[in-house]
Amino acid sequence: MKLVERISNFLGVGGDRSAPAPHYVSLADGLIVTTTHAEAWFTLSSSNTDLMSESARDAELDEAASALAKTLAGSDVHLKVLWSPLNAADYMDEAGRLFTSGHWPEWAKMRVERLDHIALPSRHLLMGVRITDRTRQAAAVSRRGIAESLGVASTSVSPRELARLDAMMRRLGRRLEATPWRAQPAAVELLTWMVAREQHRTTALPSPNAGLISGAKLAALTRGRVLPFPDHLRVVDATGQTSAWVAVLTMSGFPEKMESPGSGEWLRALSEITYVPDIDDSDLADDVDPASLILPVSPEASVRFRVMPKRDAMKKADEARRLAKEQRRSASQHSAEDPGRAVEETEGVMAGLVRDMGREDVTLVEDHPRLIVTSTTSLEDLRARVDAVVTFYGGLGIEVGVGEEEQRELWLEVQAGDQLRVPDMGHVRDVTALAGSWWWGGAKVGDDEGPIVGYLTGSTPGVYRNDLTIGSEKGDATTTAFIGRSGRGKTTAMMLSLLDAAFRGAFVLALDFKGDLGGLAAAGKRYGLNAHLIETGPRFSGVADLFRLLDREGAERAQIEVPAQLGIAMPPHLRARGAETPVQHAVNQVIASGEPATWKVIDFLRHSADPLARETGEALYELSQTAIGAPFMGRPAEGASPLTPEPGIWVVQIPGLSLPGTADDREDWNVLQRMSVALMHSMLAYGITTAGRKDLRGLRKVVAVPEVHVLTATKEGSAFLEYIARVGRALSTALGLDTQDPESLSALVGVVEQLTTVVGFQLTNSAQQDALAEMLNLPPGRHTRDLIQSIGLNPDGEVRHGHAIIRDRRFHTATAQWDIPTVELMDLLDTTPRADPIDEEPAPAPQPEEATA
Ligand SMILES: Nc1ncnc2c1ncn2[C@@H]1O[C@H](COP(=O)(O)OP(=O)(O)OP(=O)(O)O)[C@@H](O)[C@H]1O
Ligand SMILES: [Mg+2]
Repeated sequence: MKLVERISNFLGVGGDRSAPAPHYVSLADGLIVTTTHAEAWFTLSSSNTDLMSESARDAELDEAASALAKTLAGSDVHLKVLWSPLNAADYMDEAGRLFTSGHWPEWAKMRVERLDHIALPSRHLLMGVRITDRTRQAAAVSRRGIAESLGVASTSVSPRELARLDAMMRRLGRRLEATPWRAQPAAVELLTWMVAREQHRTTALPSPNAGLISGAKLAALTRGRVLPFPDHLRVVDATGQTSAWVAVLTMSGFPEKMESPGSGEWLRALSEITYVPDIDDSDLADDVDPASLILPVSPEASVRFRVMPKRDAMKKADEARRLAKEQRRSASQHSAEDPGRAVEETEGVMAGLVRDMGREDVTLVEDHPRLIVTSTTSLEDLRARVDAVVTFYGGLGIEVGVGEEEQRELWLEVQAGDQLRVPDMGHVRDVTALAGSWWWGGAKVGDDEGPIVGYLTGSTPGVYRNDLTIGSEKGDATTTAFIGRSGRGKTTAMMLSLLDAAFRGAFVLALDFKGDLGGLAAAGKRYGLNAHLIETGPRFSGVADLFRLLDREGAERAQIEVPAQLGIAMPPHLRARGAETPVQHAVNQVIASGEPATWKVIDFLRHSADPLARETGEALYELSQTAIGAPFMGRPAEGASPLTPEPGIWVVQIPGLSLPGTADDREDWNVLQRMSVALMHSMLAYGITTAGRKDLRGLRKVVAVPEVHVLTATKEGSAFLEYIARVGRALSTALGLDTQDPESLSALVGVVEQLTTVVGFQLTNSAQQDALAEMLNLPPGRHTRDLIQSIGLNPDGEVRHGHAIIRDRRFHTATAQWDIPTVELMDLLDTTPRADPIDEEPAPAPQPEEATA
């Protein structure tokens, strides 16, 4: 744990309440140029800190403090934390790049509507650094009235000056890129948005000309009026209506010591502030969910700070030390009064600081934090939000208040391109204390692009994206495991991702041993995917015939695999008498006469002159009439859809499967177990050859195995999983697993090593929790156990389906909710085994022409 210390409240330098408002000259990528100076603007990335280990956090904090001390020393910096509603419609464009199969526009639209409904705010972190003064150019600034607070200058910036500024910005950018914030030059569109949003304009933003916004386009951005009142501002739109009420708050007092992790993270905590808006009781529905009435306040932050060069900082600290020492001396000499512990403490702290500054990347920073609270509904709503913010920070020991009678000055001050105006609310701390506010901290997990499957539930909001098939594209492992207690949502989460994979044009083979994946085929059909449900029984006779599954490249393999499979299925006494030889003979003959099929082999045996062959043929024939025997030995029925390796979903449902344990002796297997192993043999051989086929290398492939313990109980099954996991990347085949038992999964070392994403749901047994913790990359111990215990519960103790801890392929770990966008889809994906054959169920919904094109 780190202690972050505040040094003093002090009267700052360089504030000027009456300075003219900034006049923008140009905006370009990474640059804001005003008449008086130019600023380099960067976007900062978020880091994933919620579940980060303490030592990793401390290390990152040190890196940030050192970046402040080294890279930014002496600069005037403006940090802004802004929120925008997530623009869900953007996902539609992305979907056009992601998806290719089925009625994907309908699928993506469903997600967009759902995202609009849950209205996630998204956070933007921006940092501006003043890079030059333009005082020469500033001579001609005109005075403007108070209401028209931001302006545009008529002068312009020369291409030469712009090129010079661009080079300076990029030089600084390269240094800031290597910090935990991974700074990137802010796109001109983002800067345009930042300037315009202060006016709450609703019209479209201008697009840059050759990367530059200037002149009339820039003027359009700042046209709007902001009227100051004693404790708030009103933003007036073009028609004279108030479009927003805004209050700027100052942070006037911080505790002497704050902790990180903990209350010291006062900027990260912005997203945690919520309030309950005042709603008329009569407007509430009777069955309203109380939790839905709590809304985020989403206050924004603006912190202007200047990192003191080390020499100045040491001088300052030394002065403070000497002052404290003198106070202590004179108090003890001139009166009997106790000089006060505070004075003594200050002296000690300052002495320590001077020592630290001599050694490490420590220096002082003077900062001026402001919080901006906005309501677009009413002044009362604004006040309720402000109260929530003041109360929240009060709880952390931080004094926050509305800057009375100074709203105009404070509002100007928080604008990009302005300057410090109200200097008497500043703080001096060491750089670690400022970095300890963790403005870039929060929650982050999953890929930056790809299918959206849910949302983050950690300390910062955001979407969660998961793409089962991304591993091999990224040259990474390809196995995703869904782990947790029964009924928590493993299978449902897996099905959501399998559907996304299928819309991306993948071949999806799902081996369903439990009978709860039928919904995957139903939903696939409903949304226009090539989806099939294959079951056992006479209706599916011959669909899993190895000759059929292993055609082309697999043909040679079939010559070995079919006799092996029939050897497993036949009664042991026949095998003991040497029945395998006539079977191999029959297989060879059937292959020689063309269009081979397993039922033809059995037929050949039945009509053979050799009595052993005949007896074996009869035994196998009878077995081929059984439900589990039919798919791999039966004669194909009319119209049964065969398994084919092409884009689409194949759910192979084998609920009656009964596999023997590894310890069981083969001679002791009963009929059901023999037939089960033989059928599994078909599926596994098919999975392996399809994954390995050279002509299918370019096809995305996913093999999904829910209830993986059923398979891992046999040697063949474990070997299959380890094989697919190991070679999945090279063969662009992803593997999805689900299990209630992480302990036995962790015994499959070959699979565990290849886990790219781990989705952990609730578990209640501590040994299982520890096994899961390791796979999630979380530190073992009480804290993690409690987390895994509580992840699947709502505050009222009821089960929270679909809520999981996720470790992604970059080893970020955070909590997220898998989100089913519509009730219709939820019903389709229901995992309760059903009685009706889903196969004949919903026809695809009629589609508009262009959607299917
Ligand atoms: N993301 C979700 N949102 C809402 N409800 C869900 C979600 N995921 C699952 N559920 C509900 O929980 C039920 C059980 O989910 P599911 O079958 O996926 O659990 P499971 O973890 O696979 O359980 P088991 O280990 O018993 O197979 C589903 O039928 C559904 O009603
Ligand atoms: Mg399940």
